[in-house]
Amino acid sequence: METVSALRVKSLYKVYGNRADKAMELLRDGAHQDEKLAGLPVTAAVVDANFEVKRGEIFVVMGLSGSGKSTLIRMLNGLLAPTHGTVEVDGVDITKLKPAALRKLRREKISMVFQHFALQPHRSVLDNAGYALEVAGLPRDERREKALQALRMVGLDGWADKLPQELSGGMRQRVGLARALAAGTDIMLMDEAFSALDPLIRREVQDQLLELQAELGKTIVFITHDLNEAMRLGDRIAVMRAGRIVQIGTAEEILTDPSNDYVAQFVADVDRTRILTASAVMERPLGVVDVNSGPRVAARVLRETQTSAVYITGRDKRFVGTVTADEAAQAVRDGKQNLQEIVSTEYVRTVADDTPVADIFAACAESPAPVAVVDAAGRLAGVIPRVTLLSALGSLSTDISENTATPEPADVTGAAPAANVTAAPEVPVQVNAQAPVRLTGGPA
Ligand SMILES: Nc1ncnc2c1ncn2[C@@H]1O[C@H](COP(=O)(O)OP(=O)(O)O)[C@@H](O)[C@H]1O
Ligand SMILES: [Mg+2]
Repeated sequence: METVSALRVKSLYKVYGNRADKAMELLRDGAHQDEKLAGLPVTAAVVDANFEVKRGEIFVVMGLSGSGKSTLIRMLNGLLAPTHGTVEVDGVDITKLKPAALRKLRREKISMVFQHFALQPHRSVLDNAGYALEVAGLPRDERREKALQALRMVGLDGWADKLPQELSGGMRQRVGLARALAAGTDIMLMDEAFSALDPLIRREVQDQLLELQAELGKTIVFITHDLNEAMRLGDRIAVMRAGRIVQIGTAEEILTDPSNDYVAQFVADVDRTRILTASAVMERPLGVVDVNSGPRVAARVLRETQTSAVYITGRDKRFVGTVTADEAAQAVRDGKQNLQEIVSTEYVRTVADDTPVADIFAACAESPAPVAVVDAAGRLAGVIPRVTLLSALGSLSTDISENTATPEPADVTGAAPAANVTAAPEVPVQVNAQAPVRLTGGPA
């Protein structure tokens, strides 16, 4: 028996505008005659898309903004009607379904996670997670149970009774994920679901998604404009350009055998140490202390984290330098009130978050403690311990063209080993009743 793909898309088009029919004719005459559309008041957002998504696969659609990704994904669950073509879900052509049948399909088979999905501010995390079930008319107890289970999956069960505003951005996005999971559908559509998150938090939720996926085996269509994210998550990746899918393949295939110049440019000189930037390999700093804290706080954090330096931030989380154990101890003896006078930029090196990995080696070699990574606003974005860089390099040197059997996404991107994401979320730890110190878990 033929196994039916979870999703199958055939000659799918979406043309926005009044003269869509005329434009369709022209498009079908020759896929590359865009100039003929020039006079028409139309936008050909998706042009002749053909692909299948296998059951249990993460299928990534990657392309620049405006390339048609959101239009495409909205046709997969019938939120948008195609101008032409078919979309099959479990073998059923949904373009032929009546609105009520479509709604039922979305309830039972396909859920969606958006970049800015709205958590309802006055409802608890639990009620937000169970929202789709409420809409579906499930009884309260059943809803609670399923929503709790989903929150447990994303590591937020302890937060069920909190309000969204009490959660960090990453945690809120995980509530969105829980909402989709609670719905219990086999297919999940995720449109730039992680794009609004900070790089580190983003990597955490990516890891979490991969972990969940290993367990649950959902069929996921994941949209992103980010190459690193595509490579990390995608079993296969479809590259979109100006409405057309220009290549579909594994990360390996796309890196090693780009189908045209556009794709080649996307993965531009994938000397992977050049494509990967500091933000792709950095980790969460173990100890971060506010510059207005007392030296005892720094000393305590140094002890607890077993590190040689703590990272000091000032106003707006801007990175101001480090304090070592010796410096902290001396400051305690000298009766200093805060860290202003002793913080220095001498001990560790600093790199910008968009620095290619290739250019971080020297800094890492010279820096006795993990290199500090700062973003464009000067905020501390993360750190890169030497071992992390080395392990990233280790996987980089496994030549992708050797065609290893089933490469982990991490092998392809050369990203650092996953941080422990199932652990409790960031919890502010109160130390000595002074400024709260964020002690966050993560690999040493
Ligand atoms: N409702 C709409 N009406 C007209 N044009 C639209 C509409 N939605 C999107 N477009 C256009 O279609 C193209 C693809 O948009 P979109 O699917 O949102 O791309 P992406 O998600 O890749 O950024 C863009 O040129 C966009 O301006
Ligand atoms: Mg979009």
